[in-house]
Parts: sequence; structure tokens; C-alpha cells
Amino acid sequence: MVGIDGGLGTDALFASEAATLGGVAGGTDLDGSDFDGGDFSSAGLNPLDAARSLFWYDVFTWYSLVIRLSARRVLSLNHRTDCGNTASFRSSYHSSSKPMKMIPLANGDALPSVGLGFWKIDRSRTADVTLEAARIGYRHWDCAADYGNEAEVGEGIARVLGDRVCSRDEMWITSKLWNTYHRPSHVAQACRRSLKDLRVDSLDLYLVHFPIALAYVPFEVRYPAGWFFDPEATPPKMIPDPVPIAETWGAMERLVEQGLVRHIGISNFGVSLVRDLLSYCRIRPSVLQIESHPYLVQPKLLRYCQSERLAVTAFSPLGAPSYIPLGMATDQDSVLNDSVIVAIASELGRSPAQIVLRWGVQRGTAVIPKSSSREHLIENLQLFDFELSDAHMQAIQALDRNQRFNDPGVFCEKAFGCFYPIYE
Ligand SMILES: NC(=O)c1ccc[n+]([C@@H]2O[C@H](COP(=O)([O-])OP(=O)(O)OC[C@H]3O[C@@H](n4cnc5c(N)ncnc54)[C@H](OP(=O)(O)O)[C@@H]3O)[C@@H](O)[C@H]2O)c1
Repeated sequence: MVGIDGGLGTDALFASEAATLGGVAGGTDLDGSDFDGGDFSSAGLNPLDAARSLFWYDVFTWYSLVIRLSARRVLSLNHRTDCGNTASFRSSYHSSSKPMKMIPLANGDALPSVGLGFWKIDRSRTADVTLEAARIGYRHWDCAADYGNEAEVGEGIARVLGDRVCSRDEMWITSKLWNTYHRPSHVAQACRRSLKDLRVDSLDLYLVHFPIALAYVPFEVRYPAGWFFDPEATPPKMIPDPVPIAETWGAMERLVEQGLVRHIGISNFGVSLVRDLLSYCRIRPSVLQIESHPYLVQPKLLRYCQSERLAVTAFSPLGAPSYIPLGMATDQDSVLNDSVIVAIASELGRSPAQIVLRWGVQRGTAVIPKSSSREHLIENLQLFDFELSDAHMQAIQALDRNQRFNDPGVFCEKAFGCFYPIYE
């Protein structure tokens, strides 16, 4: 089955998990194939302080400041650890359009606001999609051990570098710690495995995938481990392991200290867990990754993160489409068919997907749409030569139904026989 980046609800999919461990399902077609801001010096600030103090201003307005800061840091420091991802992320493909917006992080680094999600990109297509996406202009890769295709992403990255499409410093590579590796002694092991598969020396971001710790499954027994402790058992079981998040986080912090990852973060955490984490962490999370689309707006969570200078990445930014093939959503749940979205798309001459993604970026989140279709890959990156009006933004926000598709409190019980709510 498709390993749920999350979850999944049908018996058929449930039964086939062992065959396609880790979340790789059939892919689709890849055919063969300004924001003006001020000036730091005129503001009398040093670049780093300026970037920090401006952090939660409208990132669109300050976009060019960030890029200038990055460029300056490249020139003055020429050191990746300090200067972060400094490229303009303007590809040749997009040379006629505006460059990608960057999301400033608290330490002065910047996260490309659009990335490519790899969940359910078929292994056989992954390397090609990675290369094609890089040629189109993608520089932000959202990977995870659980997706079962990191080795193929690694192959694609090697081809990107070999073909000189861009340099490693121009890429932002995220991976995620799977649930079975929350014990501190397993965290570095899991991270090193992702590094090896992705063929890189360090990650830009490593996230705790879920606030769910499961019993350890040795790498040699099964990798990625998925949700079941033993898929061959009758019945197979998901076995929680009560590991305090504080212990896992301590091991995540050590990854930064060892130079294996540049930023650490969390995923699928709500406000209470984030607040608790912030009370004891030595190294703060840079990013929270959450499900977010117009049917799941989560305004309080977003506002809380902004107040804590925690950048937010929206996963499943297109809403239902990712979950329809899994039996976890229907066409009627698709915001891409919503009359409000369709009307705005028609008014602006854009696709519904572009409207939904632009809304995500314009509200300050990064978006990481998955696609293995060349047409969609191109479309999903073309978000920076138009804007939504305040009225558009409000109309889209008003579509909120608090409709979560990726809910362990639902899918763990349906697919893995274990009631495991995390949001209630
Ligand atoms: N942290 C977590 O727990 C978590 C959970 C879920 C996802 N994620 C991450 O977030 C990424 C994105 O989420 P997702 O994959 O669930 O969903 P998504 O990106 O919102 O939607 C993907 C679906 O939309 C289709 N699509 C893509 N572009 C389109 C366009 N322009 N027009 C119409 N359809 C389009 C894709 O099909 P085609 O391939 O045919 O284009 C695919 O079926 C994942 O890949 C993963 O990296 C993280």
C-alpha cells in the first residue's frame, strides 16, 4: 500500500502494505521526457539583525531584502553554514518570470517557498522527476525515509549536480525522522541512512515526521519500516513506544551540533506540543510542517507560529487529490473544484491549483506540491507573476471546513488497527 504519510483507509491498500513499503505508489506522467524592499544599510542595521527584525513582516514586501541579504552574505562570507541557501532560485526556464519568494528563517537562512513533495512518486520515476523538476526550476525537495524513494531522489540529485543544473548550495533538502526511530540511540542512525540514500553530506532540514513513536524495527529487518511492527504477523500490529518527545528532540539537536543537519523541525504537531517543545529545547525548531489548504486553514496555529518565528510549510497544499486514490477523500472534497476557486482562477486566467498554491504562499507558508507530471510541475512553480487581492484571500480563507485528510486519529485505526489520536 501506499505508506501513509500518514494514513490510509481501505482494506485493499491495508493488505498490500508489505508489497510497497514506505509509501511508493504508481506515479503519473512525466512525458519522456518583487517585491521591492528597502536597503539594510540605509536602515542602519547590520544584515543579520535586519533580517531578524523583519522576519514576520509581509515576506512578499521584503522579498528583495532577503535576496540582497543572501547575496551579500555570499560575497562577504562565502561559507555555506553561515550564508545558507543563497541562490536567487531563478531558473533559466523562469527567466521571464519573477523569482521565487523565499521564507526567511530566524537565523537568517531562507527556505524556498515552493518545493517538490516526494510522497507517492513512484520509485521508477523518482530520479527522472527530480532531474526534470530541477531543470524546471525547483530547488526545494521534500523527502522522507517513509516515502521509500530517497535512494532514487539521491540518484536524481547526483544527476542534477552532474549535469550542472544547479549546485548543492542552491538546493534545500528536507528529510524526516520516521516514527520507529524516536529513541535517541536511533536518531543519528536514521539521519545517516537518509544522508546516504540522498547522497549528500548534510540536510538543510530534518523533521520529526509525526509526534508518534513506534517500536523500533532494525534497518536490516525492514526499511523503511512503515506503520506495522511486523506486516507478516497475524494480525499485523502497530506498536506504540512511549518515547518522550524531549528525548527525541535532544538527539535531533545533536545532529545539528554534529553538522549532519542545518535546521531541525517538526511535523504534524499542534500548538500545545510546539509550546511544550519550545519550553525546553536548546535548539529551536526552524520549521513546522502541517497539512494546510483552503479546507484546513488553521489560522490560530499559523498565527502562533508567526509569533514564535517558526516558519510553516503546508503539506498536501492542494487538499483532497492526494487522498482520493487512497480512498480517504472523494472528488466532492476537492477544493480544486470549489466554485470560489474556479471563479478566481477564471478571473485571473490561472489554474485552480495555481490559485490554491498562490494562496498558500501569499499567506506566508511554504508549499510543497507533489507531482510527477511535467505539466503540473511547471504550473505549480508559476506562482510569482500574479497576486491575489485581499478580497480573493479572504474569500479563500472563508472556505475553511477544518477538514483534515491526514489524521492519524482516523487512519491508524482503519488501516493499522490502532486508535491513535494526536490532535484532540
Ligand atoms: N509531513 C507529513 O506528514 C506529510 C504528509 C503528507 C504529505 N507531505 C509532503 O507534502 C507533499 C505534498 O502533499 P501531497 O503529496 O499529499 O499532496 P498535494 O501535493 O497537495 O497533491 C498531490 C496530488 O495533486 C496532483 N497535482 C499536482 N499538481 C497539480 C496541478 N497543478 N493540478 C492538478 N492536480 C495536481 C498530483 O497528481 P500528479 O502527480 O498527477 O500531478 C497528486 O495527485 C508530499 O508529497 C510530501 O512531500 C508531508
